[in-house]
Amino acid sequence: MTTIQTVGVAGAGTMGAGIAIVAARAGFRTIVFDARQEALDRARGQTEAFLKKSEERGKLPPGAAAAALGRWQGTPELASLAECDIVIEAVFEDLAVKHQLFQALDPVCPEHTIFASNTSTISITEIAGGSGRPDRFVGMHFCLPAQLMKLIEMSPGLATSDETFQRAWAFAEAMGQKPVTTQDTPGFILNYFLIPFNNDAIRLVEQGVAEPADIDLAIKTALGYPMGPLELLDLVGMDTQKLLCEAMHGLTHEPRAACPPLVRRMIAANRLGKKTGRGFHVYGDTKMFGA
Ligand SMILES: NC(=O)c1ccc[n+]([C@@H]2O[C@H](COP(=O)([O-])OP(=O)(O)OC[C@H]3O[C@@H](n4cnc5c(N)ncnc54)[C@H](O)[C@@H]3O)[C@@H](O)[C@H]2O)c1
Repeated sequence: MTTIQTVGVAGAGTMGAGIAIVAARAGFRTIVFDARQEALDRARGQTEAFLKKSEERGKLPPGAAAAALGRWQGTPELASLAECDIVIEAVFEDLAVKHQLFQALDPVCPEHTIFASNTSTISITEIAGGSGRPDRFVGMHFCLPAQLMKLIEMSPGLATSDETFQRAWAFAEAMGQKPVTTQDTPGFILNYFLIPFNNDAIRLVEQGVAEPADIDLAIKTALGYPMGPLELLDLVGMDTQKLLCEAMHGLTHEPRAACPPLVRRMIAANRLGKKTGRGFHVYGDTKMFGA
């Protein structure tokens, strides 16, 4: 049984937009905050299209898409998160940006509000340390694309209270997700594997060993993955991949986690991936969601 009724999502980018769909679809009033109005408009459009498609394909009962959209509210005002029982942060992968957000949020939210971070690589304990409420802080790492993937890696920081962790866990289950517990370590479970693995695929392209399509086909065919590493990277975005690598490499000094130079060149050329229409592959549209 969850104690959460109203959910805040801070950051309406690739992950925040998907997380907000999960919450609104599961019946929670969902308030999405982003500093950029264009990010909110884009997330709203993507949410509407995704929910409509889900209903058309029979994945949602008739009327469920409109009902979920009715529970979804976008705002450029941080103060609108005051009514939230939990706020899930999905802003840039940068400790200073996350601290700044939580420092502004702490006086806005009531005492009982849980703060959660969707960070992929930064320490939950470190983010919590600058949040004003380290005991009511938890890691909730959703997977891309959040609205299709069930896993949430749940990490307590050193100061997280048992009650907070249990409330966040019950909320994850109430959203229909599959939580797993992981300690507060760089990359948790998934990115401990994925960041070096995806970088290896990028280095194969850099070295001219194989074309992106052939690397993806080899991995999908041999390992049974639904997506190849370069297709996945195109969804993740080169800008985010660079931040993930810098954070992971900075903490672990694992050479395979270091950002491959090709990623920086692709960012400079605006080949960020699906969101700009071109990454390792070329896309006919920049829509981020499929139903
Ligand atoms: N992309 C992935 O595959 C993935 C997967 C899991 C977790 N994550 C994590 O999720 C977080 C977000 O990643 P993303 O890929 O969605 O990034 P993104 O760049 O797509 O979106 C970030 C959004 O946050 C907004 N933002 C930044 N600073 C803000 C602030 N101070 N106040 C309000 N809004 C602000 C930006 O306007 C942008 O819309 C990161 O911590 C990342 O590590 C990413």
